[in-house]
Amino acid sequence: MDALAPLSFAIGIVVLLVGLIVNPLVIAPLGGAITLVAAAAWARGSGRAPSAEPVQPDATGEERFTRSRLLERATLGLGGLVALGVAVPVAGFAVLPSFLGQRRRPVDLGPIAAFPEGEYVVATFRADPQAGEISQRSAYVRNNGLVGDLPSFTIMSSRCTHVGCPTQPNGPLFPHQRRAERTSGGEVALVPAQPAGFGCPCHGSQFDNEGNRTAGPAPRALDRYEFSIRNGHLSLGRLYSVSTVDGTGAQAEIRSFALKGDGEPATGPESWLYPIDPPS
Ligand code: FES
Repeated sequence: MDALAPLSFAIGIVVLLVGLIVNPLVIAPLGGAITLVAAAAWARGSGRAPSAEPVQPDATGEERFTRSRLLERATLGLGGLVALGVAVPVAGFAVLPSFLGQRRRPVDLGPIAAFPEGEYVVATFRADPQAGEISQRSAYVRNNGLVGDLPSFTIMSSRCTHVGCPTQPNGPLFPHQRRAERTSGGEVALVPAQPAGFGCPCHGSQFDNEGNRTAGPAPRALDRYEFSIRNGHLSLGRLYSVSTVDGTGAQAEIRSFALKGDGEPATGPESWLYPIDPPS
C-alpha cells in the first residue's frame, strides 16, 4: 500500500494541473485533495520504523535498492516529467502574450456623436489592425445617453455564445446610412439598425435587445465590451461575459463574469462541470 502513495501523489499533481486549465472549480480541488491524501499516506509510510532486516550488500559490496524504493523513485520522476509537460505550456500561454505585446489594445470606434442616443448601430472594426481582416469583428452599440455627467453605452459582441457564429439583428438594417469612420485603428463601418433582438443563423439561438438569451442552445447572454471615452471618441476595451441582464440601457443590472469560452455557461452546475458535457 505504501508503494502506491507516490503514484497517487503524482496522479494528484497531474489532476490538479489539468484541473487548473479545464475546470478550476471542480477538477482542480479534486486533484488537490488526491495530492493531500497521498502526501499524508506517503509521509506516514516513510515515518515508520525501518525494517529490522539490514540491507544486504551484493557480491560487489554495494547496497541494493529495494524494489519499493526503485518504484517510488521511478514514480516520482515520471510524475515530475508529466507535471512539467502540463505546467510549461500553461505558463507559456499565460506569460508569453505580455512579452510579445499580444494583449488586446483599445479599439477606437470614432466620435461619440456618430452614435445617436437610444439607437443601435452595428460597428464593424478590426480588433487587431496588424492581424488584418482575420481580426474583423462586429459589435452592437447603443448610446444610452448620460448618467449624471457620464455617457452610458451598451456594447455587445455579435458573436454567438454557442459556438461563435455571427448573429444578426432581427429587424431592419440601414446600409444606405452607413458611415465610415477613419480612426487610429483603421476604418470602422457604422450601420444603423432597428433590432427586435438578435438571432443566430447557425443553430437558432435568440437574444433580446439587452443580449439576454431567449431561445436556442446558447448557454448565456451575448458578451459585452468594456468601454471608455478618449478625446470624445468611443473606445472599446476588454470583452466580458454576462449571464443575465435585468432592466434596460443605463439602468440595467448586469451579472458579469470574466470572459468565457464558446458554449461555456456563466452560472449554475453546468458551469462548474464545464467542459464536461452531460451525455445527450
Ligand atoms: S452558433 Fe449560434 S446557435 Fe449555434
